[in-house]
Amino acid sequence: MNMLRRPRRNRKSPVIRELVQENFLSLSDLIYPMFVMEGQGVRSEITSMPGVARFSLDLLLEEMQECVDLGLKTFALFPNLPESKKDKYATESHNPEGLYLQAVKAIKNRFPDIALMTDVAMDPYSSDGHDGIVEEGSGGFEVVNDETLVVLAKMAVAQARAGADIIGPSDMMDGRIGYIREALDKEGFTNVSIMAYTAKYAGAFYGPFRDALDSAPRFGDKKTYQMNPANSREALIEAELDYAEGADFLMVKPAMAYLDIIKLLNDNFDLPIAAYNVSGEYAMVKAAAANGWIDGERAMLEILTAMKRAGAKIILTYFAKEVAQLRKS
Ligand code: PBG
Repeated sequence: MNMLRRPRRNRKSPVIRELVQENFLSLSDLIYPMFVMEGQGVRSEITSMPGVARFSLDLLLEEMQECVDLGLKTFALFPNLPESKKDKYATESHNPEGLYLQAVKAIKNRFPDIALMTDVAMDPYSSDGHDGIVEEGSGGFEVVNDETLVVLAKMAVAQARAGADIIGPSDMMDGRIGYIREALDKEGFTNVSIMAYTAKYAGAFYGPFRDALDSAPRFGDKKTYQMNPANSREALIEAELDYAEGADFLMVKPAMAYLDIIKLLNDNFDLPIAAYNVSGEYAMVKAAAANGWIDGERAMLEILTAMKRAGAKIILTYFAKEVAQLRKS
């Protein structure tokens, strides 16, 4: 057969395949989300996220040490609070003596060289399970935007004061990046970064995370603030605003079903793009692998590499520790 171009030549051996490989997954791309809870000596497995647990602070520090030894350098922290600490205004979120801010402080004391990302949104602390303040009226309930910004800014400043390196507003209120940026700068935290949850969709993939935090909305859903999964043009509007308001990173969440959005933002903005490989995506891989239906390890690497190929520089993933363990072995 007379064929001048034979693409298979570039796949003929492992060395050649590696030579032409365009995208690589590196440990320094990964952010490992972790969960802290009250108590001592507690490790509480999350049933819907096999291999992921909530830790009391003492055990969290030990677990983090293990991750640091494996080469992970960036972590995101979320709190699981008892119902008794939750209220309508997420007051506990800016209590400097509270679980979360004490944990941030302890982590940065013990590991000054890691980068710690904190979460800004009301849901872990809200008795309503929403990311903002809920007002009830005759026509139902509303998550009120501008009043919420005040709480978010308090939370962000308190986190910066506790030692956070990157603030991660995951709430999707309008104008929050600019409002938080100004609040941080006014308090002298001009060096604290903001990773905006820019295109965060109201999807079905957050269930296991809400189990981990006991943070599911007590009523209604999050569709008036998180985006409609059917839309992509809106993601550009969100990105323009976050860029103009001073975000240092733009995030797309979830990741697997939103690779086009990752590419869209990467093609149009010069900030580093992050992808959040969320809890439901993790759970799907783990469940299928546990049934022997897919090779979980290969699926994990394929999914994460695809996110890089789509244009994500950074990936938040519950697989981070497993990837690091694979690299060590
Ligand atoms: C809410 C928040 C959510 C996640 C991070 N922050 C879920 C939600 O919007 O209810 C989800 C992360 C995951 O599913 O892994 N502020």
